[in-house]
Amino acid sequence: MKKTLILILAAILLFGGIQTAAAENIPSLKEIYAEKFDFGAAAPQAAFMNTETMDLIRKQFSILTPENELKPNFVIDWAESRRIVKESGDETAVAVHLDSAVPLLDFAKENGIKVHGHVLVWHIETQDEFFHEGYDTSAPLLDRVKMLGRLENYIRELMDLLNTRYPGLVVSWDVVNEAIDDGSHTLRKSRWYETVGEDYVERAFELARKYAPDGTLLYYNDYNTAYPGKLKGILQLLEKLQAEGNIDGYGFQMHHRVLEPGMSMLRNAVKAVAATGLKLRVSELDVGIKKNTEEQFKKQAKKYADVMNLMLEYADQTEAVQVWGLTDGMSYRKYEYPLLFDASCNPKPAFWAVADPSQAFE
Ligand code: GLA
Repeated sequence: MKKTLILILAAILLFGGIQTAAAENIPSLKEIYAEKFDFGAAAPQAAFMNTETMDLIRKQFSILTPENELKPNFVIDWAESRRIVKESGDETAVAVHLDSAVPLLDFAKENGIKVHGHVLVWHIETQDEFFHEGYDTSAPLLDRVKMLGRLENYIRELMDLLNTRYPGLVVSWDVVNEAIDDGSHTLRKSRWYETVGEDYVERAFELARKYAPDGTLLYYNDYNTAYPGKLKGILQLLEKLQAEGNIDGYGFQMHHRVLEPGMSMLRNAVKAVAATGLKLRVSELDVGIKKNTEEQFKKQAKKYADVMNLMLEYADQTEAVQVWGLTDGMSYRKYEYPLLFDASCNPKPAFWAVADPSQAFE
C-alpha cells in the first residue's frame, strides 16, 4: 500500500516536473519581438493566484492589460460616489479605487512589465447610475455640463491614483472603446452620446490627455475593423480625433475565427488605418475554432501566423500585439479554444506559429 502511494507520488512529481520543464524550455515571445514591438496579453485577476500562469506571463509577455479590472464598473466606487454627491450636492463627484486591479498592477511593477489601461469610456460595463443625478437610476439623466464634469473627475481621480501608487506603470490607455455602431457605422446611440452629445469621444480624449502623465499613449479601440462599412465609420471618427490632436493610436481588437475576417479584408483595413499615420496596436487577438482537433489547431496556427506577418509589415508603426487571455481554459471564448496555450499552459501550434510566423503553416 505504502509502496503504491510512493509510486503515485513519484509519478505526480515526475509528470509535474516534465510539464514545467516543457513550458520553461519554449522560446519567449516577448524576446522574439523585442526589437519590433511589445508582445503582451490580457490577464484576469485569477491569473495572479496561480504560479503556472504567473511563470507564463513573466516569460512570455512584456505588456499586460487587466481583462476587466480597470473597466468603469470595477474602478468606480459606486456607494462612495453616491454618498459624496448626496452630502456635497456636487453632481460631478466621483470616487475611484483600484481594489480589483491591484494583483495585476503589483505583479507588473515587481516584474518590470508594462501595463496597457483598458478602458476609460465604454457603453458596456458602466453602470447606468453613472449617467443619472445622484447616481440614482430613478432620477433624470445628467445634463451635458454635469456629465462632462463627472467624466473629468473620474478621469482625473483615476489617473492621480495610478500615478501616485504606480508611477510610470501604465504606458497607454484605451480612452474610448467601441463607439461606432455596426449597423449605421456612425456613433452608437449610447448613454454617453445621449448625455454629452456627439463630441463625447473628442471630449474624453481631451480629458485623458489633460490628466494622463506626459508620454502616455492614447488609443481608440474597436472591433470588426476589417468590414468596409465599419472601417469607414472608424476612419471618420479617427479623422475628427486627429484634428484635435489628442489621439496617438488605433487598437484593432481582432477577436477572429479561422476564416473570418478574410486576410485580404484585414490587410486593407490595416493599410487604411496605417495611412492615418496613427500608431497601431493589436489589442485583443484571439482566433476561435469549432473543435479541439489537430486539424483545427493547424488552421488556427496559420491564421495567427498570417496576422503576425501582416503586423510585421507595419512593425515601425506598431506598438504592441496583445492576445486576449493567457490559456484556453481562462479565455472568455473558452469553448472555441482561441489562445496560444492550452488549459494546462502547454504551447499549442498557434504558439509556434507566433514564435516563427515565417514558416509555411498548412
Ligand atoms: C470587448 C472588450 C473586452 C472584453 C471583450 C469580451 O472586446 O473590449 O474588454 O470585454 O469584449 O467580452
